Amino acid sequence: MYQELIVREKKISVIGLGYVGLPLALEFAKKFSVIGFDINESRVQMMKQKEDPSKELPSEAFENKDIHFTSNPEDLRDAHFHIIAVPTPVNESKVPDLTPILSASSAIGKILKKGDYVIFESTVYPGCTEEDCLPLLEKESGLTLGKDFKIGYSPERINPGDKKRTIATILKIVSGSDDDALEQIAKVYSEIIVAGIHKASTIKVAEAAKVIENTQRDLNISLMNELAIIFDRMGIDTKAVLEAAGTKWNFLKFSPGLVGGHCIGVDPYYLVHKSKQVGYDPQVILSGRRVNDGMPAYVAKRLVKMLIGKGKSPYESKVLIMGVTFKENVSDIRNSKVIDMIRELMQYSINVHITDIHASPNEVAHEYKLTLIDNISDDYDAVVVAVGHDEYLKYDLKYFKSIMKDQPILFDIKGMYHFEENDLEYWRL
Ligand SMILES: NC(=O)c1ccc[n+]([C@@H]2O[C@H](COP(=O)([O-])OP(=O)(O)OC[C@H]3O[C@@H](n4cnc5c(N)ncnc54)[C@H](O)[C@@H]3O)[C@@H](O)[C@H]2O)c1
Repeated sequence: MYQELIVREKKISVIGLGYVGLPLALEFAKKFSVIGFDINESRVQMMKQKEDPSKELPSEAFENKDIHFTSNPEDLRDAHFHIIAVPTPVNESKVPDLTPILSASSAIGKILKKGDYVIFESTVYPGCTEEDCLPLLEKESGLTLGKDFKIGYSPERINPGDKKRTIATILKIVSGSDDDALEQIAKVYSEIIVAGIHKASTIKVAEAAKVIENTQRDLNISLMNELAIIFDRMGIDTKAVLEAAGTKWNFLKFSPGLVGGHCIGVDPYYLVHKSKQVGYDPQVILSGRRVNDGMPAYVAKRLVKMLIGKGKSPYESKVLIMGVTFKENVSDIRNSKVIDMIRELMQYSINVHITDIHASPNEVAHEYKLTLIDNISDDYDAVVVAVGHDEYLKYDLKYFKSIMKDQPILFDIKGMYHFEENDLEYWRL
């Protein structure tokens, strides 16, 4: 397979061109002939115009690449090495929603040929590739794994907004349905990954490795959040505690915060789902999830208490929220926990103004029915810096005071500043 791909006798297809699929497809298109497929026609049109709909890549990233963008599944027949990078969200009950990955598996099954490879990159629970997706590939194609085609799993580890750690510089885990598949898949990825390849012993090991990376991070942050709640009650500055504890060589450095986005706060539910299926009700993982999911309400309640403590009625208070994206320096607003905090504040009848340097006002309006303000006024009762965008670092005490009324309150969720002033109430997690 590798040999035919590298001499461009065969093509690679990437299915699902979002945050993961598009950079991956463009990276492969430096060395291989690639078909980039997405069901969303308007996104495909943008990509044809050298525009990344996810706003992560500049137009130069599309230059000199051997890639054909399409929303026609028939075009996938021309490819032999298919990589699936579609979303794997959870539904409202926090149960894995496999609709996109199953429908992508069916679509590939319909065009699968003898000798083809199918690699899954989407984050899933251990067993999903072989137990949920493979049967669809076999059913739709009438072909048999091993005899007719091969599969693999290679999780994506990119970090949105991170310009340093890009696909090529992150060590890649690969796995295959047999030794030959593993070798071929590893060779193909080796062409674009300079950081190296880790060959996992089985597909389930590779699936589990990815899902626990994010579960571990979620749990570590949940511990920091719980500590922040405890220390806040005691009047102890959590950040100062973490700085002190962090001087020990084996203290792990994590910070409290709102855990949103479509990875850290979602992936643990994939593991939880599988765990329950095999008869074990996870305790630790779910308790971490509960703490993290409770943080938006906790912060909102803390602010309301502080407003009331200053004799300000929530009903008459005006609060500015700076930042609505799910994390710093990205424009992605999906599953942002800042939105949960805003909704909570609104339930207390607070007049909430929202601004964000990176988020698209249209997307915020469309997704959450919320309006981003054009002009920041000068009569806020409190300001909440909810997301640590680099651009917000330039604001100083004078600035925050200038946009607030008497008895100003500054909530610095990410601990970006450190103000010690008598006439400004400064609070951080
Ligand atoms: N975003 C990240 O930073 C990140 C990091 C590591 C892993 N992941 C995982 O990678 C996977 C993809 O995530 P993403 O952030 O790129 O998602 P995304 O929402 O940015 O993009 C998904 C793309 O897939 C398309 N799509 C949906 N269903 C499809 C189908 N059936 N066929 C073809 N295209 C389809 C959508 O139109 C969209 O363009 C998920 O499993 C995610 O958990 C994401």
